[in-house]
This record gives sequence, C-alpha cells and structure tokens, in this order.
Amino acid sequence: MKVSSGIEGLDKLLMGGFIKGRAYYIKGESGTGRTILGLQFLIEGVKRGEKVLFITLTERAEYIKENSKKLFLEVEGVEFLDLTPSAEYYRSSYDIFHPGEVERERIFEEITRKIEEISPRRVFIDSISEFRRLVPNAFVHKRQVISFLKFLNSKDATVLFTSETISEIPDQDLEYVADGIIELKRDEEGFKISVRKMRGSDFIPGWHKVEIGEEGIKIHLS
Ligand SMILES: Nc1ncnc2c1ncn2[C@@H]1O[C@H](COP(=O)(O)OP(=O)(O)OP(=O)(O)O)[C@@H](O)[C@H]1O
Ligand SMILES: [Mg+2]
Repeated sequence: MKVSSGIEGLDKLLMGGFIKGRAYYIKGESGTGRTILGLQFLIEGVKRGEKVLFITLTERAEYIKENSKKLFLEVEGVEFLDLTPSAEYYRSSYDIFHPGEVERERIFEEITRKIEEISPRRVFIDSISEFRRLVPNAFVHKRQVISFLKFLNSKDATVLFTSETISEIPDQDLEYVADGIIELKRDEEGFKISVRKMRGSDFIPGWHKVEIGEEGIKIHLS
C-alpha cells in the first residue's frame, strides 16, 4: 500500500507515494528543504486523521513551528518530540565529547515511550546523524540505526529520516539501511530533487526542479 508524501509532484515521482511501513532517507546538504519535506509528509497524515510524530534532534521544535507558520504549513496535530540538547546538558563540556550510556538511554527511552504512547502512523526523524555522537564508532551507529528503524517498522509506522550529508563523511551505511533515498540539492539553478532508490517500487528518475514557497515544496517534473 502506498502512502501519500503530501507533495503532489513527489507522489508522481514515487508512482503514488511511499510504501507503508518502510523507512526512507531524505538526503541533502544543509538548507536544501529536508525539514520542509518532512513536515509536509506529516501534515498529509494529519489531514488523513493519522497520528504523526516529528522527532527533532537538531532544530528546536518551537523554531520549526514558527517557520512553518511563515510558510503557511499548518502544524496543528503534529506531535513534536524535542530531543535537542538542553542548556543544562551543555554545562558539562565533558558530556559533549563523551555523552555516554546515560544520555543514549535517556534519548531512546523517551522515543520508545512516545511511540508506545501515540502509535504514530508517520514518523519524521530530523536528523538521525545526531545518534552518531551517542555511540563510540560508525559500526555501532549502523547497528543502532538498523534496530531503531526495525522497531519503528514493527509499530507499522512509515518513517522518513534525514542525516547531515557532508562530503567528507561517508553515508553508505544509511543508504544501504534505507528502503529508499530521496536526494535534495541546491545549485546555481535553484532547488532540485531526485529519487535515487525505491525498494519494491518503480519511480521516475532524474533531477527535477523544486520551488520552495508559501505552500512548501512544489516540484516541476522535467
Ligand atoms: N519562510 C520561508 N520562505 C521562503 N523560503 C523558505 C522559508 N523557510 C525556508 N525557506 C527556504 O527553504 C530552504 C530549506 O529549508 P529547510 O529548513 O527545509 O532545509 P534543511 O535541509 O532542513 O536545512 P537545515 O536543517 O540544515 O537548516 C531554506 O534554505 C530556504 O531557502
Ligand atoms: Mg532541517
């Protein structure tokens, strides 16, 4: 079964939408539209009467809400789980470099509790690379991401996650883990989108122009 992305042009590229219960990687550099895309995906769920959850690990929930107002994106009904580091957390500089067991357990406990509490049909995680600083190495990170996505899928949620893509840091692990990859970029011509991988479904390949305006992301199929 397909799940509408909330963006007409993206549904066309995806031949109807995401496959229900799977996990998708929204890849792109900073400022390419990842958060807006995730918001539109969640808002579409609200319109359909679904429970939806935004897990934010980088941008404070209140800032996301503020900006969505400027974009005329109606976030009412979107549940936010704000896991951005608190000011208290930063008081200990040691913790920034070695957050350790306690921080990791707290974060996963909060996520698990929230998921059990509201049983969301749609989950957007922005961004999953924040988990990386909670574990000692890339191998443990990959295992952690895999088991976390499996947990969400076992709850029947369709998941979108972002990651900080910096060319120096390889992200092949996330690419393998994801059931699909949507890439966003911004070049001299403007914003662009491309579907790179979709397990179990055909899709329209290539780069397509994106406009970010008052209604969020609009795709012009090339
Ligand atoms: N209120 C707005 N009006 C017009 N354009 C906007 C507005 N808010 C954001 N944008 C445009 O949308 C782009 C993408 O925003 P978004 O927050 O989704 O990017 P992102 O990939 O999540 O980046 P990051 O998380 O690194 O800040 C911004 O760089 C900006 O050009
Ligand atoms: Mg963002």
